[in-house]
Amino acid sequence: MKESYITTAIPYVNGNPHLGHAMDYLLADTLRRYMMSRGVNVRLQAGTDEHGSKIFKKAAEQGVEVQAYVDQNSQKFQDFIKSLGVEYTDFVRTTDADHMRRCQAIWKKLSDHIYKGSYEGWYCEGCECFITDKEYGENDGVCPDHKKPYVKLSEENYYLRISDFKDRIREALESDELKITPTFRKKEFLNLLKDMPDVSVSRPKEQVEWGIPVPGDDSQVMYVWIDALSNYITILGYPEKDISEFWPAHTQIVGKDILRFHAGIWPTMLLGLGLPLPNNILAHGFITVNGEKMSKSIGNVIAPEEIIEKHGLTPFRYYFLRHASTTDDADFTWDKYEASYNELANDLGNLVQRLATLCKKNGIDRLKLPTGDYHEGEFDEKMQNYEFNTAFDLIWSDIQGLNKRIDEEKPWALAKEDPAKAKACLSSLVRDLLVANKYLALFLPDTSKQISEVFEAESIEPPKSPLFPKN
Ligand code: MSP
Repeated sequence: MKESYITTAIPYVNGNPHLGHAMDYLLADTLRRYMMSRGVNVRLQAGTDEHGSKIFKKAAEQGVEVQAYVDQNSQKFQDFIKSLGVEYTDFVRTTDADHMRRCQAIWKKLSDHIYKGSYEGWYCEGCECFITDKEYGENDGVCPDHKKPYVKLSEENYYLRISDFKDRIREALESDELKITPTFRKKEFLNLLKDMPDVSVSRPKEQVEWGIPVPGDDSQVMYVWIDALSNYITILGYPEKDISEFWPAHTQIVGKDILRFHAGIWPTMLLGLGLPLPNNILAHGFITVNGEKMSKSIGNVIAPEEIIEKHGLTPFRYYFLRHASTTDDADFTWDKYEASYNELANDLGNLVQRLATLCKKNGIDRLKLPTGDYHEGEFDEKMQNYEFNTAFDLIWSDIQGLNKRIDEEKPWALAKEDPAKAKACLSSLVRDLLVANKYLALFLPDTSKQISEVFEAESIEPPKSPLFPKN
């Protein structure tokens, strides 16, 4: 079987998993299920980003030993990913001994592109990065993501020389050797690349002690990006193992705010290491709540668990995979969520109940299962262009089409006139539902399994309780 590799961003462990993180995992899971259904074996990495001053401070605030703090929070993310029905194959923690050792080896290999310097610049403590003067001006001195003023920072750091590979990166992006979806974000990034400064990759140990020591310099620890980005290959065993079976990654999934690091710093590292660039970066948008950025200070953060508790996992996946765009920002409100739940119950829940009841009444037994694709490329094209939500729309219109057919063909009336016709009508409806159900498995795996269990059974029995009960 062909092997492939998908990655997700590794969240900082100084907070609880939130809806933004869920988006990374749901998109990765859908893509993985899709590729697996096409006969590709997909390795899916997830992990946690555990170093840095913020995490160190948070642990201290809570009076917990920092290792214990990150252990506990990393576990929360592992449990969270599983609670979304997402199956990952590898989990990397940046405090793992293997990761730390490999990361130091990577640093050494990059030494031609790393230099020590003193730097003064505008820095966002929230993003943990320096920004250009141009951005400082454009944002009026305040980080638009963190709403915090940038601070002037000056210190001895090691720098990664982005300028060594700028032209090469530009070329790779322009030729789609490294493809960024959506295209408008690629354009945005190409503009940014022009002025992208060399990037600070270490901090003095006296400022930050919770980090991987810089090889050969006890006074510095790695800071953020080399440590974090290298996770994608340290988990594969690089540099000790040959990773060519999985690398270059098929798709790296990130949120729009960290695209610049994945399109700028990461390719610089890969080119410096002599490794190929990933094939695709998918940058998804942000999830807002009632039209606003989620933030603890506004107090509008809704925990994913709270949403899942309301109606279960399937309605959660349905909302975020169908009603949230794969690449643009998307909003969550309880009203929209309830409307989405009702749609799920009316279109799919009712269909299953109604069709199974009619099948039972009319003695429809186990049917020969259909094979083959029926979307003739349209579905694949959307999936391959990372338009997962519109690909899902196609499947949904099939499901709505089946409801319409039941209404129009009236198998209950047919049963009175001509039982053979009723049977033929119902068999055809069930077959078409089972075809749609194969696609549904990519988005709503649990429900798809339930549907298979009902309609692929020796004798069809409607579910004892509706799949999506009314409130
Ligand atoms: N630790 C870095 C990533 C390192 S990857 C080598 C980081 N962590 S994070 O916890 O801030 O973000 C993790 C992921 O969640 C990123 O893909 C980020 O874009 C995504 N999101 C964080 N907030 C989000 C929303 N409100 N909406 C959608 N995704 C967002 O960045």
